[in-house]
Amino acid sequence: MYLTNKKVAVLGAAGAIGSNLVQDLLSTGTACNIAMYDPLAGPLEGAAEEIYHCAYPGASVMWTTDQAEALSNASYVITSGGAPRKEGMTREDLLRGNCEIARDLGEAIRRNCPEVEFVIVIFNPADVTGLTTLVNSGLAPGKVTTLAALDSTRLQTRLAQHFGVPQDEVTGCKTYGGHGEKMAVFKGGTKVCGVPLDDLLGGATVNGKGLSQEEWAQIQEHVRGGGARIIKLRGRSSYQSPAHQSVEMLRARIRGGDYPWPCGAYFKDGPFANVMMAADVDWTPEGIVGRIPQGSPEDMAALQESYEHLCKLRDEIIAAGLLPPLSDWKAVNPHL
Ligand SMILES: NC(=O)c1ccc[n+]([C@@H]2O[C@H](COP(=O)([O-])OP(=O)(O)OC[C@H]3O[C@@H](n4cnc5c(N)ncnc54)[C@H](O)[C@@H]3O)[C@@H](O)[C@H]2O)c1
Repeated sequence: MYLTNKKVAVLGAAGAIGSNLVQDLLSTGTACNIAMYDPLAGPLEGAAEEIYHCAYPGASVMWTTDQAEALSNASYVITSGGAPRKEGMTREDLLRGNCEIARDLGEAIRRNCPEVEFVIVIFNPADVTGLTTLVNSGLAPGKVTTLAALDSTRLQTRLAQHFGVPQDEVTGCKTYGGHGEKMAVFKGGTKVCGVPLDDLLGGATVNGKGLSQEEWAQIQEHVRGGGARIIKLRGRSSYQSPAHQSVEMLRARIRGGDYPWPCGAYFKDGPFANVMMAADVDWTPEGIVGRIPQGSPEDMAALQESYEHLCKLRDEIIAAGLLPPLSDWKAVNPHL
């Protein structure tokens, strides 16, 4: 009845994303054996009670304030357990505090579930918290990813709104690199009702509408500010879309693919080495393998800038003592 009976540990489960995620795991028929963890006992019990009151058939959901208990024998871990952004903050304002949580989480995974098959890190800045978790966990890079889809789904949304077409008529939307204000919003393979974005920028129309260079630049800017806009509109950071897309990623891991959006991937070598960043991935029995993004010189220049920014954030975390120096990574995690 459910896609998997294996244990899924959801961390940050009292929070907005975590509690919605547990509901989504059950509502989509993805997983029924769930451990909910959060340090806040009252809200956690409340979130678990709500799930029990949904009365999902066949569900086996437990809650605990003991992270080791939640992680023990987990096959999958999904974590939104960290501080969210408030209005006026960037994702990077969360850097130090959330990377400390990520370092401890990596060590807890190493102790309690070294055989885990897949870890999805959501809490921000996700590229850096995901990297910190990976290095400290000792896991192979294909087993740790970050939620990186929302910038691309925001691009799809905005283009559909611009052309007045159904959202799924906009295909191939991709943002790569960092999940932050310095993300690279690619023109790449984006098409609107089958018409490539390059043709639209060159004068083609869809639904009677064209796209000027200026409008494209505004759309890219809108996408970069997509998360901040939700905070402004709702008074809190987005939670429905991250919960849903994380569950879609887990479904892809279990099925072995069929996920159209970029995911956080670690590159061991090549032009984007030693960071975790949004990229297309192949889904293999061992986990994900990132593909180096390809694009026009303009797209690749934006990606290079985004990569350099990620390196800077990574180096800040190394300087803060939350990640070992690059030269020691292999000793801490032989897979790197
Ligand atoms: N990657 C993305 O696309 C994306 C999108 C939206 C939000 N986020 C991020 O997700 C995170 C969670 O957002 P939210 O709206 O659910 O916040 P929230 O405040 O509603 O929930 C966070 C929960 O984490 C718990 N927590 C705190 N420290 C913890 C720890 N060490 N281990 C486990 N849990 C801990 C808190 O008690 C709280 O219940 C934030 O960092 C937010 O910025 C990421």
